[in-house]
Amino acid sequence: MKATATANANIALAKYWGQRDIALTLPANSSISMTLDGLSTKTTVEFSGGLKQDSLKIDGHAASREEIARTSGFLDIVRKMHGTQIFARVESENNFPKSAGLASSASGFAALALAATRALGMELDAIELSKLARRGSGSASRSVFGGFVEWKKGSREDGSDCYATPIAPKEHWPELKMIVAVLTKKEKAVSSEKGMQLTMSTSPLYNAWLGSADSDLEAAREAILEKDFNGLGKTAEMNCLKMHSTMLTTEPHLIYWEPETIGLMKGIMGLREDGVECYFTIDAGPQVKVLCLEKDAKRIVKYLSFLPGVKETRVCGTGEGARIAKQGLF
Ligand code: DP6
Repeated sequence: MKATATANANIALAKYWGQRDIALTLPANSSISMTLDGLSTKTTVEFSGGLKQDSLKIDGHAASREEIARTSGFLDIVRKMHGTQIFARVESENNFPKSAGLASSASGFAALALAATRALGMELDAIELSKLARRGSGSASRSVFGGFVEWKKGSREDGSDCYATPIAPKEHWPELKMIVAVLTKKEKAVSSEKGMQLTMSTSPLYNAWLGSADSDLEAAREAILEKDFNGLGKTAEMNCLKMHSTMLTTEPHLIYWEPETIGLMKGIMGLREDGVECYFTIDAGPQVKVLCLEKDAKRIVKYLSFLPGVKETRVCGTGEGARIAKQGLF
């Protein structure tokens, strides 16, 4: 009745922004990501007949009411699949700040999906696990797999064709790195789910976003398969700015950036003008991630450390998918 799993965060290179079904977490567009080796969540789940409710600890602290509600809602789906009603004790540890735009919901729900199903003795295949993780957080569907991953939006109403699949293993492009620059450890004010709903209903640019999502997806996939660094970087950076353009034009405006975020964007553009190959990408938070090749990573990290507001940098390669861990958290 107890299992522990670890999953890595992933960063999208062609991003998901908008849902065609909120309850089932079905995206309005397909996306492609890179699973990162440096950012992970470990989660232990124990179901036990004696418990009166689910409990949740994150990074050693009792979780907030919202976090418990979201986790319990997800565990309800697992309980329904299994046909049980017993509650669980859940403990989770991130090796990076949660909810700050570093994809903790992706690694968190991928690890929870695997740990919870195994704790109940269920052996889901990777596709079923991806569909289940998706119900907790859309991007978690991608963290089930390692390497480069595509999450297809699917077209069925019940979501049965909406899951992620790997497009290239982590060994495919070892020279490719993502430098994560942490600017603030504050949690974000507006969750991605809420932000997406606001964007879809109010941004005049949302249709334009959807209109170019497929061509960005194709371009990102092709660049990954051909290991075309500049092709991938250009596509990812432009795709990120298109997504943020829909956020900025949402009512009320969704400005996930801090002043330092813009400083880093300009810094990366300047570095590129000086001949260093690097591109930025940013999710629903202030942190900046820089796509680069291993040969330039040290120089870029050094440069970033001189920019205002940079608290920490981490150089990540492509990581593995969700897996069972031997050592539990309790
Ligand atoms: C901007 O599926 O991670 O990172 O679970 O509410 O955090 P929450 O939503 P999530 O949204 C991800 C949005 C994004 C782009 C992406 O990862 O594709």
